Amino acid sequence: MRPKIYITRKLPDQIVTRLAEVCEVKMWEKEEEPVPREILEKEIVDIDGLYCLLTENIDKPLLDLGTKLKVVSNMAVGYNNIDVAAATEKGIMVTNTPGVLTETTADLTFALLMATARRVVEASDYLRAGDWKTWSPMQLTGKDIHGASLGIFGLGRIGEALAKRARGFDMKVYYHNRTRKPEAEAQLGIEFAEKDQLLRESDFVCVLMPFTPETKNYIGAEELSLMKKSAILINTARGGIVDEEALYHALKNGDIWAAGIDVFEEEPVRTDHPLLSLQNVVALPHIGSASQKTRLKMAALAAENLVQGLLGETPRHLVNR
Ligand code: DGY
Repeated sequence: MRPKIYITRKLPDQIVTRLAEVCEVKMWEKEEEPVPREILEKEIVDIDGLYCLLTENIDKPLLDLGTKLKVVSNMAVGYNNIDVAAATEKGIMVTNTPGVLTETTADLTFALLMATARRVVEASDYLRAGDWKTWSPMQLTGKDIHGASLGIFGLGRIGEALAKRARGFDMKVYYHNRTRKPEAEAQLGIEFAEKDQLLRESDFVCVLMPFTPETKNYIGAEELSLMKKSAILINTARGGIVDEEALYHALKNGDIWAAGIDVFEEEPVRTDHPLLSLQNVVALPHIGSASQKTRLKMAALAAENLVQGLLGETPRHLVNR
């Protein structure tokens, strides 16, 4: 008997075809709408494998319903949407998609940094609104990126890829990580800094750590108060790592200069979210890994992880080994 799987969002045809070679496939057919919880609760009862996105909350009550479930494959590197401890207790494998999105996410992080520093979105809106009357000496002036200092919280794959990019801009790079990485320090010419020092010294602070109970509100009012008034905060990791209310007040009061945000505590973010009312915020809809090539690679890797688990092999990217 072929294993039964449920896919929580419409995937590209080649991925579905690959999965159908091995599995009996059922899929939520909508591209722009997440599967309703009631449907997921019904579907999970009878499946061996679940292919899900970061938009699904795979919590214990849901896992309790999946009595036949063997593998949950997340099409993302982050897996804070899954109760991994509950899955592990039930002997359910959880997989993710690291590696394939590293460079693309580092590209977007740097793009957001540049867009925020040079006020790219604001300047474009200004032009389109017909406000551009003349060239003027201090008009829409921003911050220099070349020669500035960059602090990276979380020196994983994406953090290292970001540091590489920063070198090309002659930036002084600090990082803070649970463990020091002497090899990366030597290779990339970067310097370990304690949390406070990184916040104090950096012109740009980039948040690239995983979201866990320990990193919730890792950047709050106190941390923001340590940053330079001229500094820019970039978050392309997860919304909950930065305290959004504290960030709003810091930006509004001029305690920091600007922020570039690709991720929000609640997604999709409401259009009346206070942060979106600020001119010094560049906000994006969680598109860190969104290049065509990379999204296809992520989708394919999540499919392979799922197939491997269902065939009794150890998936390449098993989170709960
Ligand atoms: C991830 O993979 O965790 C990103 O947030 C989406 O690519």
